[in-house]
Amino acid sequence: MIVVGASSGIGASIARELAAAGATVAILARREAELAAVAAHDPRRLLPYVHDVADTASIPALLERIIADLGGLDGLVYAAGVMPDLAEGEYAFAKDAAMVNVNLLGAMAWMDPVCARFEAARAGTIVGISSIAGVRGRRANPGYTATKAALTTYLEALRNRASRYGVNVVTIKPGFVDTAMTAGKPGLFWLVSPDEAARQTIAHARRGRSVDAFVPARWAAVALAVRLMPSAIFRRLNV
Ligand SMILES: NC(=O)c1ccc[n+]([C@@H]2O[C@H](COP(=O)([O-])OP(=O)(O)OC[C@H]3O[C@@H](n4cnc5c(N)ncnc54)[C@H](OP(=O)(O)O)[C@@H]3O)[C@@H](O)[C@H]2O)c1
Repeated sequence: MIVVGASSGIGASIARELAAAGATVAILARREAELAAVAAHDPRRLLPYVHDVADTASIPALLERIIADLGGLDGLVYAAGVMPDLAEGEYAFAKDAAMVNVNLLGAMAWMDPVCARFEAARAGTIVGISSIAGVRGRRANPGYTATKAALTTYLEALRNRASRYGVNVVTIKPGFVDTAMTAGKPGLFWLVSPDEAARQTIAHARRGRSVDAFVPARWAAVALAVRLMPSAIFRRLNV
């Protein structure tokens, strides 16, 4: 297994849970000390690789190295994501570009070669951590909602393309999860721990058929309400 974005939050919890279930997991992220702390939970099964997903040119060689180290590959979880704070009235291309690079392009750069490999093998599972934020264009952070909408659509397309060849592509759309990304943010509700989000994510992935799921499931009702809401009303909400 490979977990990209495994140094903290949901990705770290997913990696630890997979290792506890007996998998050997390559854990990837930029922060070496945080990765080492995650690996310390089970040094035999959690193998750290310092990696910046914005360095897309390095991915093919790193993927081959990891596959050789693991002795094969049966799954990829892409959990890397950034959501820089955006003040009211702030329009910041640098922040938007960072989100496109990490939340979307990095996912494509990892999923494309892995999906090609899984399609040829007629087996394998790809999990993408998207977000309920991608359901609608929210005024609070246009770039974040746009990258998550694009990631959700990309994952759906990947599923439609590869599931006929035995590849499971799982889209996970969490609501609020108690991680560094949400720390100190106002208006949070139904907050779950990263361990709980990880447990539910892995349960969806293990079902062995392609899914598109909110985590926890009750966010599906919120997503439906938000999707059906007339634009003139949604615009007035402070989300
Ligand atoms: N928390 C929520 O409420 C929530 C809700 C919906 C969706 N999500 C999504 O869940 C995913 C995980 O986020 P989280 O809440 O667990 O936050 P987090 O603790 O901040 O985790 C983000 C992870 O992404 C990695 N990452 C960021 N930039 C990277 C880069 N350039 N290269 C490699 N790795 C990078 C980070 O590692 P390094 O910084 O060490 O590189 C870290 O491991 C994200 O995709 C987020 O959008 C979160």
